Amino acid sequence: MFENASWIVHPENKLYEPVCFLKEFSPKKQIKKATLNITSLGCYYPSLNGERVGSFILAPGFTSRKRVQYQSYDVTKMIRDENKLEILVGDGWYNGKINFVVANNVPKSLICQLDIIYTDKTKETIVSDGSWQATKDKLRFAELYDGEIYDALYKDTPTCARVLDHDKKIIVKQQGVNVIEQEILDPVSIFKAPNGDTIVDFGQNLTGYFEFTVNAKEGDKVEFTVCEELDKEGNFYNENYRDAKARFEYICKNGENTYKPRLAFWGFRYIRVDSFPCEIKQENIKAIVVHSDIRRTGYLDSSSDLLNKLFSNVIWGQKGNFLDVPTDCPQRDERQGWTGDATVFCKTATYNYDVEIFFEKWLTDLKLDQGKKGNIPNIIPQTVCWDWSTTENTGAVWGDSATIIPYQIYKMYGNVKILKKLYATMQRYLRYIGASTKKRYLWYGCEQFGDWLGLDAPSGSYRGSSNEDFIASVFYYNSVKIVADVSEILGKDRAKYDTLATKILEKIRKTFKEYKTQTECTLALYFNITEDKKAVAKHLNDMIKANGTKLQTGFVGTPFLLHALSQNGYTETAYDLLLSEQFPSWLYSVKQGATTIWEHWDGKNEKGEFWSKNMNSFNHYAYGSVADWVYEEACGIKPKTPAFGEVIIAPKPTDKLDYLSATVYTRGGKIFSKWYHQNGKIKYEIETPVKSTIVIDGKEYSVGKGKYHF
Ligand code: BGC
Repeated sequence: MFENASWIVHPENKLYEPVCFLKEFSPKKQIKKATLNITSLGCYYPSLNGERVGSFILAPGFTSRKRVQYQSYDVTKMIRDENKLEILVGDGWYNGKINFVVANNVPKSLICQLDIIYTDKTKETIVSDGSWQATKDKLRFAELYDGEIYDALYKDTPTCARVLDHDKKIIVKQQGVNVIEQEILDPVSIFKAPNGDTIVDFGQNLTGYFEFTVNAKEGDKVEFTVCEELDKEGNFYNENYRDAKARFEYICKNGENTYKPRLAFWGFRYIRVDSFPCEIKQENIKAIVVHSDIRRTGYLDSSSDLLNKLFSNVIWGQKGNFLDVPTDCPQRDERQGWTGDATVFCKTATYNYDVEIFFEKWLTDLKLDQGKKGNIPNIIPQTVCWDWSTTENTGAVWGDSATIIPYQIYKMYGNVKILKKLYATMQRYLRYIGASTKKRYLWYGCEQFGDWLGLDAPSGSYRGSSNEDFIASVFYYNSVKIVADVSEILGKDRAKYDTLATKILEKIRKTFKEYKTQTECTLALYFNITEDKKAVAKHLNDMIKANGTKLQTGFVGTPFLLHALSQNGYTETAYDLLLSEQFPSWLYSVKQGATTIWEHWDGKNEKGEFWSKNMNSFNHYAYGSVADWVYEEACGIKPKTPAFGEVIIAPKPTDKLDYLSATVYTRGGKIFSKWYHQNGKIKYEIETPVKSTIVIDGKEYSVGKGKYHF
């Protein structure tokens, strides 16, 4: 593909100024099939004869700079006798401040090949080259953090495109899932804030853009700024977007103007209407939700409205942060593939949606961007200017994305291919830890993120007070065990990793004798570090009770906290934490009006005041990882063999809810597990598509495919 095509650029490339490449052509004979293949350095938006080609938003997607995906579109039905192909290209993820420090090394460029097969079986190929025209576009500005500026009155005179000598070997066929428009939301209200601002509320924190229609006079302006939350007075607040301007500007032509952005997206619930040609009404505007086209596979339901809202928030957190890569957040000046966030959320993600292909693509980028010494950059894909692939800074949990995520994909979908592909990456990662640690058989004395955002953080710090060397060593141990298992699955010798794991465990036990924080106890239990689970579980439970039945855990402890409790005899405490409405808790944020998962337990206090503008996203999925406890422990559904070939269903009911249920659509079919109270008894309804072990009140039942009542 693209053998005879050239990369082309506008001769006056300017950062953030989109350009459009044009080609007119007339097919010679009757067409049987026409396929348009495109990719770009930057994001592109293709049209043929004024009509959009395909539905991929922000194509070609976000990958390691070592590769760029191309997309193929069937355009047979769009071709006429005379045709105009227009491909708009903006900087997207490729250039500019999305790379943290502005990058503009390679101008935004396009490469394109149109393959035509005529009915007489002859072929013609039209490729991008110096014969194409290039123009500046009505879209005058596009940048992912700052938004778009569109001038409907602008007109440029086309010039000749310039050929760019750039590597074509980086071009690969699209590996990921398409990013497409998924849902349309109407405003739930349009109101005047106390300070006089007009605000449109969509009732849901979402990721995507908006579409508006308005009758206007030439030169009228539409200007929007977006935010996730209102301040305690009910006014617009977006200081937490930091350097992301999150703006939109549009200069109208005479008559009807309908527009939706093409090279930007925003994370928002509210739009502040800074200018509009008339009083804005519901029919003028809607929100369009955009994310990767992943299939929903998991559903949770309970007798508590607040809990159901939490489940909905977890789903919206995933939708909002699965836009081609798993991101930390979709709104402020980050929106990066932070590896730690993906690591702690990936189990929940695999229950909620079929994310096999989504993660396969991202893990390929992880493999490509692995550092020279085996370190895993904390952000994948690597941004150009923050190059952790050479600076060797890899935090535990963040780096463990290289082992934990592929292994989870294998467990849920039976994907051995991904293990094969990542095996060398995993091995190199372990060697990196072995070489960088200051104490053999531990991961010790290195730069870490610790229990990120743990509430027991010393003042002024983002890192909880759990021992960072302990956390890192536990995850080192866990990764070694994963690599031992993966070795066996791939038919290789696991012995050396088993031996290493044993040594690490001995050393951890010798070095870290006491578990002082909730996160330390949680990890000691969940990862089988302690030899005295009973005592540690009691200690954890006592600490939680002494703290008013409140958690204190951050990114590292939280995903495992309820598991550690319910697996060690404290299921009721796990439910207490899940159902607590007091700060800090999941339902506290729900009661504060959250429609997605907050980055901080204390993102907003009871008075409606914000924690800090520096690090306060209201759409950060990490704490949404609590949903995997509901699937796996509360409703009890777990794969016994990969891809749910066989299933364990061991629900753990409570009197604190009238009912709870989980539905999971696996590759083998539907699994359903519900428990409910009836006439003073607990009843169970279970459905499985395969041979399963059902555990009710400690009693095991071996069953085949079918529906069961207990
Ligand atoms: C991101 C996090 C990330 C962290 C690591 C933050 O700025 O938003 O979610 O994991 O940095 O330090």
